[in-house]
Amino acid sequence: MTNALTTEPENAVAVVQRVESFLDARLKRTELPANLVEAIRYAVLGGGKMLRPQLAIRSCEAAGGDVEDVIGPAAALELIHAFSLVHDDLPAMDDDELRRGRPTLHIHAGEAMAILAGDAMMSLAFEIICECNFDEPRRASVVMELAAGTTAMIGGQVYDTLGGFPDGLSETDRLKLIHRNKTGALIRAACRMGGICAGANDEVMESLTQYGEASGLMFQVVDDLLDVTQSAEHIGKATGKDAEAGKLTFPGVLGIDGSRAEVERCEKRAIEALAPLGPPAGPLRELCGYMARRTK
Ligand code: IPE
Ligand code: IPE
Ligand code: MG
Ligand code: MG
Ligand code: MG
Repeated sequence: MTNALTTEPENAVAVVQRVESFLDARLKRTELPANLVEAIRYAVLGGGKMLRPQLAIRSCEAAGGDVEDVIGPAAALELIHAFSLVHDDLPAMDDDELRRGRPTLHIHAGEAMAILAGDAMMSLAFEIICECNFDEPRRASVVMELAAGTTAMIGGQVYDTLGGFPDGLSETDRLKLIHRNKTGALIRAACRMGGICAGANDEVMESLTQYGEASGLMFQVVDDLLDVTQSAEHIGKATGKDAEAGKLTFPGVLGIDGSRAEVERCEKRAIEALAPLGPPAGPLRELCGYMARRTK
């Protein structure tokens, strides 16, 4: 499997399978209650696109690293992402009943289990990084990166759901603050974690950081667009809910064409950021194009 990854870097299926196998094996080794493990499996192995693991792995490759070193951190990223979705869907938050074409975890297993499974996914993510075979400074950097990305994501969810903005921000600046934090921060962390696992120098880290920031903002602009342009059947989650809930979104503030223009600007910035990395960043370029043009 490792060979398939290094010789066919464009093969996203192999990347995803590698992370899924890692998570499956790690969950088999836990001594947690069986119903909790079932809930975690339901949330993290439930057909997500696994983009954050892909970004971490492709960033590691772009920085000349060994893919083997980033599988654990990539799995940890997906656990944090899946936890964020489980809690995002709760009645106290977005109150959604459909995710990836199936009932959300609180519908499937109850609210208490959804809260607790989300909590456990967060701590398990950090256990997994601590179990990786890194030297101490690298382990600490990877933990710090994921922790900071997670904390920023939670701050972004607060802005999105409860407000609490600094004074004097325009509507567009509030919108960017929400999106950069609730979604951009973990995507940025994914790219940087890939770089750290590769032992990247400051210049490479800067390229990956700029790429992560631009593609992270872009990712949520696209998510907002899908909410107003796609059907629930196609994207596997409820649509039309952002406007209904009075959320601050890109289509709401800039309109559909204005949001698409923002996607193009972000994509351009992300691709430009990769220029110093040359051909090894090819898969990251492809991933960015996919994130800009995805329909689900
Ligand atoms: C959805 O993320 C939530 C956002 C942060 C926009 P994804 O679109 O990556 O969700 P899955 O994991 O593929 O279902
Ligand atoms: C969620 O944003 C961002 C998270 C941190 C989970 P959304 O609320 O727009 O995500 P979806 O549309 O429910 O996937
Ligand atoms: Mg939300
Ligand atoms: Mg939501
Ligand atoms: Mg959304």
